[in-house]
Amino acid sequence: MRLRNDADGYGAVTKALHWVTVAALVAQLVVGYLLDDDGGGGGGQGRGRGRGEESGRGRGRGGDDGDDDGGGGLAALLDGDLDGLLAVHVALGLTILVVTGVRLLWRRLTPLPPWAPGLSAAERRLAHGTEVALYATLLVMPATGITLLLVDDDLLWLHVMSHVVFFVALALHVGLVLKHQIVDRDRLLRRML
Ligand code: HEM
Ligand code: HEM
Repeated sequence: MRLRNDADGYGAVTKALHWVTVAALVAQLVVGYLLDDDGGGGGGQGRGRGRGEESGRGRGRGGDDGDDDGGGGLAALLDGDLDGLLAVHVALGLTILVVTGVRLLWRRLTPLPPWAPGLSAAERRLAHGTEVALYATLLVMPATGITLLLVDDDLLWLHVMSHVVFFVALALHVGLVLKHQIVDRDRLLRRML
C-alpha cells in the first residue's frame, strides 16, 4: 500500500483523509440540524440574545448571567458549560477544521496524481473549482460557527450561508463523480477508494 499520491493515483493518506472528512461532515450536519430542533427557540428563529430577549437557547447557560449578550457564548465555552449536543457540534467542527488543515498541508507535501483521462477540459475546470470551493467551505463553516458562538448568535445566517455554498459545491462534486461512474462508466470513483 502506498501512502503518498503518485502518478498511479491517490495514496492511502489522501483517501483516508477524504473519507474521514465525509463521515465527520455527515455526523456534523445531523448534529447541526438536531441542535436547531433541540429546545426550540421558536422554530429556528429568535435565537438572538443580541436582541435583548431571553429566548433560552440552552447553549450559554453561564450560571445566573443568562441575559448577557454574545459574551455568554465565550464564557460558556471557557467554563465548559455548553449544552451537550452543542459541545459535540463544536468538538466535531474543530476536528473538521484540523483535518482540513492537515489535508491542505498533505496536498502540498505530496503531488496530485494526473487528471483522470476521462475528464474533458471543461470537467477539469469544474472539478478544480468545486475542490477549491469545498476546501474553502470546510474552513469557513467552522469559522462562522466559532464566530456565531463567540461574537453574536444573530450571525447564524452567516453559518447557514456557508452550508448553502457547501451543498452546491458538494452536489457538483458528487454529480461529476456519478456522471462518470454511471453514464461514462470510466470508474472515476475508484480513484478515491
Ligand atoms: C464543518 C463544520 C460545521 C458544520 C457543517 C455545521 C453545521 C451546522 C448546522 C447544519 C446547523 C443548523 C443550522 C440551521 O439552523 O439551519 C448549525 C448550527 C450551529 N452551529 Fe454549526 N456547523 C459547523 C461548525 C460549527 C462550529 C465549529 C461551531 C462553534 C464553535 C458551530 C456552532 C453552531 C451554533 C452555535 C449553531 C446554532 C445552534 C442553534 O442555536 O440552533 N458550528 N451548524
Ligand atoms: C464532505 C464531502 C466531500 C468533500 C469535502 C470532498 C472533497 C474532495 C476533494 C477536496 C477532492 C480532491 C482530492 C483531495 O484534495 O483530497 C476530492 C476528490 C474526490 N472525491 Fe470527494 N469530497 C466529498 C464527498 C465525496 C463523495 C460523497 C464522493 C463519492 C460519490 C466523492 C468522490 C471523490 C472522488 C472519486 C475523488 C477523486 C476525483 C479525481 O479523480 O481527482 N467525494 N473530494
